[in-house]
Amino acid sequence: MKLFDVYPLFDINIVKGKGCKIWDDKGQEYLDLYGGHAVISIGHSHPHYINKVTEQLSNLGFYSNSVKNMLQVELAERLGKISGYDDYQLFLINSGAEANENALKLASFTNGRTRILAAKKAFHGRTSLAVEATDNPKIIAPINNNQHVTYLPLNDLPAWEEELAKDDVCAVIIECIQGVGGIKMVSKDFAQGLAAACKKHGALLICDEIQCGYGRSGKFFAHQWLDIQPDIITVAKGIANGFPMGAVLISPALKPIYGQLGTTFGGNPLACSAALAVLDVFEKEQLVENAHIVGEYLIEQLKELQKDYPIITEVRGRGMMIGVELAVPYKEIRQRLLFEQHCFTGCAGTNTLRLLPPLCLTKTEADDFISRLKQVLN
Ligand SMILES: Cc1ncc(COP(=O)(O)O)c(C=O)c1O
Repeated sequence: MKLFDVYPLFDINIVKGKGCKIWDDKGQEYLDLYGGHAVISIGHSHPHYINKVTEQLSNLGFYSNSVKNMLQVELAERLGKISGYDDYQLFLINSGAEANENALKLASFTNGRTRILAAKKAFHGRTSLAVEATDNPKIIAPINNNQHVTYLPLNDLPAWEEELAKDDVCAVIIECIQGVGGIKMVSKDFAQGLAAACKKHGALLICDEIQCGYGRSGKFFAHQWLDIQPDIITVAKGIANGFPMGAVLISPALKPIYGQLGTTFGGNPLACSAALAVLDVFEKEQLVENAHIVGEYLIEQLKELQKDYPIITEVRGRGMMIGVELAVPYKEIRQRLLFEQHCFTGCAGTNTLRLLPPLCLTKTEADDFISRLKQVLN
């Protein structure tokens, strides 16, 4: 059998990782400013993570959600404390798309409505409702095109207020920093106006924190920079540092009903032990603070570089989520960073380099990236 060929691949076989470095099968070292698409939060192959997951595997790999799982209870308590959402409820699944799928279902179960508002250029995943809320017709199959979603321009509050005033919107779903959309930031005025309009008109506000959340922005959640409190928060990616896991954080105003949501694998003991190890390392190594400090440093250094290299037209982002807008398509620069400078970066649209390093990136590694980028721009 062959693989179903849906990914355009680099001809590189990564076999080892440590911190912000990865190695291919020929022993070549790479600096990882991509984190496997924003998934690696505490760094590759962290010893504490390896120990916790290995220990769990040797005790119990899996049992179903028909019995108590004290690891889920511990994760809910710890996540509530560290994120500032002590009074919210946690539902665990296996991916980002599943998190959004369940968030949208829950919103519809709650208010009985079926209309969704999402932002232009939004990316929310590839399952039925998640992909419908994703503004990319190329990945919406005809069977998913069910006319539930209206896409509106980011930060254009009157446009969202006008739709919400129809009193038929089930949920508004938004990334406070758009990832796939190219590191586009929601403004504070827009976020606060949107939250107020949702409340007034009975729509639930869902913040998709799958890419911008879990410490990446330099606060636990990106929406915490904007002083809003969503009804539902979705997370995945960095939550378990590569072990597949997603989660929905749910306001206490929403009451659980037996059987309404469910999953076989969600919240399994291995995923929970991986997620608990991530929180241990977040606390011990102060990684959210590090994302803020080193991220802002990297943004400053990139802005300095921009003064000498007008090919960089804009630097935007927060913490370890940074967009470097170029006057030319990113393709050649990204390829040269990878094959000449041995540095992984992400991308968005046609002209944006997207930096999503592990949250443990050091200032020395940030400087190292800047000098590699300089070599390519020279
Ligand atoms: C903001 C956002 N939401 C949802 C998803 C979907 O997550 P997953 O690929 O785990 O289903 C992604 C993935 O890139 C994302 O960036």
